[in-house]
Amino acid sequence: MSSITGITENSPHILVLGMGGTIAGLAFNPEDSPLQYEAGQVGVEELVGHIQSAVPEGVKLVSYQLANINSRNLTDAHLTALGTAVREALLDAVVKGVVITHGTDTIEETGLFLQATCGKLAQTQAKRVILTGAMLPSNAPGADGPSNLLDALRWASTAIDNCPGGIYAVMDGRGCMAMDLAKRHATALNAPLQNSPSSSVGLINPSWLSGVKAVQAAWNEDLPIPQENEWPWVEILTSHAGARAETVAQWLKSDVRGLVVAGSGLGGLHDAWVEPLDKAMAQGIALVRTTRTGAGRILPNIPEADASGCRAASALTAPRARIALQLALNAAKQANLAGKPLTWQDFFARIADLPEIR
Ligand code: SIN
Repeated sequence: MSSITGITENSPHILVLGMGGTIAGLAFNPEDSPLQYEAGQVGVEELVGHIQSAVPEGVKLVSYQLANINSRNLTDAHLTALGTAVREALLDAVVKGVVITHGTDTIEETGLFLQATCGKLAQTQAKRVILTGAMLPSNAPGADGPSNLLDALRWASTAIDNCPGGIYAVMDGRGCMAMDLAKRHATALNAPLQNSPSSSVGLINPSWLSGVKAVQAAWNEDLPIPQENEWPWVEILTSHAGARAETVAQWLKSDVRGLVVAGSGLGGLHDAWVEPLDKAMAQGIALVRTTRTGAGRILPNIPEADASGCRAASALTAPRARIALQLALNAAKQANLAGKPLTWQDFFARIADLPEIR
């Protein structure tokens, strides 16, 4: 029996974990104003009930509500609970795959988190973990949640030789690695993966699949899941015209452990931030530099040489780099306690330097 969910089902099944989001949302006046709604209102059992008749024969579903929130309110504690439940499910012989219904606003963070903490386990256990969500609330005309959930369930229960075990996401008929999610549109039905390397879920694209296998071959070891109260505090700052030194300087008085700076263009920072950021690094605050453009790889020492406490984020967007830095700081702390002289940069590199799928 899983200690997180307390589920006692002994026959093979797909576990559906509910986190909330628009897929579980209700509009107040769905016909006239479908985008005026509250996320996280419908239980995961009810969502599964709506599509049960279309689930392939012989596939048993067991659902569990881990949270029912608007994902903009996602906390470190939610991620600890989700990661722990996914790891338990992957180790449980009767769970054949996991589907997670989630809000799309921060699905990007959860995707990176699950890849970094459960990706290897999913691969070695030959099980798929599939995140999905919706852009329209569950009672809106043409709601996209039911078809997304059905696609995710079908894919989670498809024979593994079609595509290896791992952490994936499904939206609008397409699948991607969950670490490639990035919501880049406010309303489009494919918003969380429209700019991500992806494949049709019905017919897996061989070129995408070979990219997935290259990433998985390079991903050797999952990072530890931080305990609920042990997540290092990491913030995102965005460089912009008119930036002021005080914006950075105020963090020097806080307990922040890391800063992700979304620079302009190639990841360059406003001159006003150079001195306070040097002070931050001298104080032991970890610094990661990415770009506010939302796409492209940030390289070390471009456009200027990086200080030794600063690391370029490669292709990680700011939200993903923030989670990666939290996990890297925590992993380095655990390694040091075990007598291993590894740094946060060593762990961050494992995530940031993975091959890119084209
Ligand atoms: C949320 O992220 O919970 C709300 C938005 C969405 O799911 O699309």
